[in-house]
Amino acid sequence: MAQNRAENLPPLFDLRTVVANFSIQGTFSNGRPFGSGHIHDTFLIQTGEKDCPDYILQRINQGIFLDVLQLMENIVRVTKHLRAKLSTMPGSNLEREVLTVVPAVDGRSFHQDEKGNYWRCYLFIDHHRSFDHVPNPELAFEAGKHFGRFLNLLADLPAPPLHETIAGFHNLEIHLQRFFGNLQADACNRAGTVATEIDFIRSRADEMKRFQRLVQAGLLPLRVTHNDTKVDNVLFDRQGRGLCIIDLDTVMPGYVHYDFGDAVRSGCNLAREDESDLDQVNFDLALFKGYAKGFLFSLCGCLSGEETAHLAFSAKQFAFLVGLRFLSDYLAGDRYFRITHPSQNLQRSRVQFRLLQSMEGQFAEMEDIISSLSAKARA
Ligand SMILES: Nc1ncnc2c1ncn2[C@@H]1O[C@H](COP(=O)(O)OP(=O)(O)O)[C@@H](O)[C@H]1O
Ligand SMILES: [Mg+2]
Repeated sequence: MAQNRAENLPPLFDLRTVVANFSIQGTFSNGRPFGSGHIHDTFLIQTGEKDCPDYILQRINQGIFLDVLQLMENIVRVTKHLRAKLSTMPGSNLEREVLTVVPAVDGRSFHQDEKGNYWRCYLFIDHHRSFDHVPNPELAFEAGKHFGRFLNLLADLPAPPLHETIAGFHNLEIHLQRFFGNLQADACNRAGTVATEIDFIRSRADEMKRFQRLVQAGLLPLRVTHNDTKVDNVLFDRQGRGLCIIDLDTVMPGYVHYDFGDAVRSGCNLAREDESDLDQVNFDLALFKGYAKGFLFSLCGCLSGEETAHLAFSAKQFAFLVGLRFLSDYLAGDRYFRITHPSQNLQRSRVQFRLLQSMEGQFAEMEDIISSLSAKARA
């Protein structure tokens, strides 16, 4: 999801000076913007020596991550734990299968420059492939397998709990409250034009709150989850096999449904996130099956029956939640999601709601897929 920032283009930074504050091997040769992330300013830093690694340098988005110390504390704990677990597995490649935080010269996990910008540095994982869309069920399987494995490896992260880096990130109750607040305020005089979408939300809000009721009843275990499981947060090798889960900013306590729901909502939609021709929007069952197969392959035996029983529902819940957030931002005047034209957030919300309808039409099949895959995984 594109997020709003005060600036549209990254300002020019003296990357050589910033990099000098990190304990890198080799000498700075050049730096350039890299990747298609929407949150931070990300740069690839190349070193001059052939036998020295390259690096990813990121200026952390402080508009979204208000407490950088807590954010980096989480990432250091998570990467250390992953590294320790992988090191016991024969054949693991620790520099490619988990992010390596490169410390600043003062030993901290970040550097703050004189303007107050926070920077961090990772080893660059080279020879990888990255995807913005899921091209086929095989790649969906790989993505599911790797996000499932990530959850599995973090299941025994020792206490204390990770910090909540964005408060209420996937909490439907909170987003519903914000939505109705924005609707009432109607700051941009837009409420009159979205009556159909408001009806859509009202007619499903109670069903969607089912998940919150399960949580309140203590039926679902709190886990360590990634919480931003888009396919572009998996790096693949040249053969299309999953390699490394990146973008660890939102790794924090959550439910397995957050990781599954957001991945299939974002990955199994055949249309663009802001497609204007809603007839192009379809939830693709073959991609869903591929993803679910990979996810359950990695998590077999780890999930409770109650958790598995609501996986298919989590896809619907996330389409609803994300559509609600887009519409809410449209009503508030596009303050959070970056837009290139005035009705883009409305369009994005319509895509999510059409996707939800497409899921509703295939929900029995979605549930069958999950139950037959989990029965196989248990066998
Ligand atoms: N360690 C890394 N090695 C190689 N590429 C990386 C690495 N970390 C990030 N990237 C690239 O940078 C992009 C943005 O990084 P990410 O942490 O996902 O930022 P954002 O939160 O802005 O999406 C990724 O999609 C990926 O292409
Ligand atoms: Mg990312």
